[in-house]
Amino acid sequence: MKTPGIYTGPIKNFLNYRKNPLGFLKNIHDEFGSLAYINFMNKDVFLVSDPEDIEHILLKNSKNYLKGRTTKKLSSILGKGLITSEGEYWKKRNRLIRSSFTNKKVSQSSTLILKVVEEWIRQLEENKRYNLVEEMHKVSAEIIFKLLLQKKPNESLFNDVKTLLDYILYKTRSLFPLPLFVPTSRNRNFKQALKNIDDLIYNSIDKRLEKLQNKEKIPKDFLSLLLNNETLSDFSRIQARDEVITLIMAGHETVANTLAWTWVSINERKDLKDQLKELSSVVFEKNTLKEEILWDNNIAKKIIMESMRMHPPVWVFMRESISEDILRSKYKIPAGSTLVLAPYFTHRDKTYWKDSLEFNPERFQKLNPNSDVQGIRYFPFGYGPRVCIGQSLALVESQIVLLKMIKNLELIFEGKKKQEFNEGITLSPATNTFFRIKKI
Ligand code: HEM
Repeated sequence: MKTPGIYTGPIKNFLNYRKNPLGFLKNIHDEFGSLAYINFMNKDVFLVSDPEDIEHILLKNSKNYLKGRTTKKLSSILGKGLITSEGEYWKKRNRLIRSSFTNKKVSQSSTLILKVVEEWIRQLEENKRYNLVEEMHKVSAEIIFKLLLQKKPNESLFNDVKTLLDYILYKTRSLFPLPLFVPTSRNRNFKQALKNIDDLIYNSIDKRLEKLQNKEKIPKDFLSLLLNNETLSDFSRIQARDEVITLIMAGHETVANTLAWTWVSINERKDLKDQLKELSSVVFEKNTLKEEILWDNNIAKKIIMESMRMHPPVWVFMRESISEDILRSKYKIPAGSTLVLAPYFTHRDKTYWKDSLEFNPERFQKLNPNSDVQGIRYFPFGYGPRVCIGQSLALVESQIVLLKMIKNLELIFEGKKKQEFNEGITLSPATNTFFRIKKI
């Protein structure tokens, strides 16, 4: 039996996807259900959103599914970092890097996060107009650069990161992306931006390596962990660079968009903003951060989780099958197929969520929303062995930013805006969402 789906128009399907990625996949999901076939440039592609299939692919039979072609396209930027590597190499690196993102390490980072937010709030001016998505990017970029490299990104570095993200998007969405040696302005800008970021990262790495070689003391931070665990060689220098740039790219836009969506979602919900205000006065009582509260199932965390349910920043991600496999519905997945896993659709499906299109943080009474269902219906951070290593950091960081903003600012959004999407690598609200502030 053939999987329901679209078997004709291989190029048209690709072009339609490129024109309107979310709309194209949504139409297919709505028409064919939680497992649908798409002929994409004569490649077998399956759109998957059934929770049992998600669990099967990401956990139970994860050995049969690699990151695949789409992820490989990122190697020109990320090298052989955690996101792009596979097999034994990935396993070893994952173990090492995960040890830098334990709950204890995240707790230790909370003061740094708070300082960045305080500084950002301090420089905001009343009556000036701000772009929501851009401002959230600024905050999250500064946090990740400071955590990893103890460096504050200036405007030009910030633009370089944006150029890299735009290039990734171009590469994944183009029919025939022009190779880098072709001197188009896009390629030239990309190469310059990558060089600027690489120079910055290598500069930090080399300073540390010099200290290590001279047996000088180095700070006990992320970069030291990466370098200390290796025999110091050119290889470890490149490895460290690949991990740092991977974490910058993975941990910046995702958090920024979570925060931007959260603001769009609560903007007109006085009830939720009042609850956040109440929590913020406890969390920042006497101007000290009561960081331990951020690990509870508090209202800020529930709001952020609900925001990621309705607007998962990583709204789709891919896998490629090694051998033929059979999913819950008994449809066959041939070897070499691409599987498009879509939290966006699973998270909004009324079969798995009551009143699925309503923004209701109280549905997260239990911290684990998968505990009382078959399979995985909530996976904004992925699932299984390749689950996001930064999820605790992302949740604590988002809470600190949100609560500090609620405590010190009133955000006044411009007009009533229809919630439009911008599907970059991640999903963000319309990039023309503007606000003004009043300091409280
Ligand atoms: C709200 C914020 C975030 C979201 C929604 C998110 C989402 C995800 C998802 C869906 C994956 C799995 C992709 C797949 O299986 O193909 C992932 C992996 C990953 N994330 Fe995140 N992420 C967030 C924040 C962060 C942060 C703050 C960091 C680190 C600073 C980070 C680092 C990574 C890394 C390194 C991986 C690859 C893990 C591996 O394959 O071993 N992420 N993330």
